[in-house]
Amino acid sequence: MKILLIGATGAIGRLIQPALQIDHDVISVGRSNGDILADISAITDIRHLFKRSGKVDAIICVAGSSVTGELDAMDITGYEAGIQQKLLSQINLVLIGLNYVNDNGSITLISGKIGESPVKGSSGKAVPNGAVNSFVKAAALEMPRGIRLNAISPAKISDIPANDLVLAYIKSIESKLNGAIIRIGYK
Ligand SMILES: NC(=O)c1ccc[n+]([C@@H]2O[C@H](COP(=O)([O-])OP(=O)(O)OC[C@H]3O[C@@H](n4cnc5c(N)ncnc54)[C@H](OP(=O)(O)O)[C@@H]3O)[C@@H](O)[C@H]2O)c1
Repeated sequence: MKILLIGATGAIGRLIQPALQIDHDVISVGRSNGDILADISAITDIRHLFKRSGKVDAIICVAGSSVTGELDAMDITGYEAGIQQKLLSQINLVLIGLNYVNDNGSITLISGKIGESPVKGSSGKAVPNGAVNSFVKAAALEMPRGIRLNAISPAKISDIPANDLVLAYIKSIESKLNGAIIRIGYK
């Protein structure tokens, strides 16, 4: 498979890229490092990214920041940042990227346990994570050409065996799952 991996140099990207490369052709993407440089919070960059990559069998996104902070220290800009960087970036990636995914391919987004199981100080992260899950469940119902859309929702990766993370990504790209929130490390 030809896989576009956005966020390849990050904590999750660094764990999964070597495993994916064993059986697949991985094109890495980031703002400052990668085979293709692109900022997925900019629509023009997303368009440019797919013009460079051409058609792919799978898109995996492990990029998208959000803000941590106690509620009384948060203001609306913190929520806006997470919504822009983690939610809308990934939605745009799907809307534009769909046209570049081969029939029966897949798109795998990133959310996080905090979206379903928050702790104090996590509302800025919970909002985009929960919304990514909602988007995936709804948009998966309308994926064309046999394309599948899933989200990986990990707990803190330092609490998860690396192999569990790798297996979750392999499950998302190689199985028939569609509209799934693949939870890893939930207690
Ligand atoms: N780490 C965890 O324990 C954990 C747990 C649950 C969920 N998550 C979620 O998983 C995602 C990745 O986390 P991480 O810890 O791997 O993050 P990270 O270490 O900060 O890495 C993020 C990666 O994404 C790239 N990136 C960031 N923004 C980008 C953008 N706008 N366009 C293109 N590339 C971008 C970064 O490279 P450049 O800086 O070069 O762009 C980097 O390769 C986040 O959404 C996070 O909330 C993480």
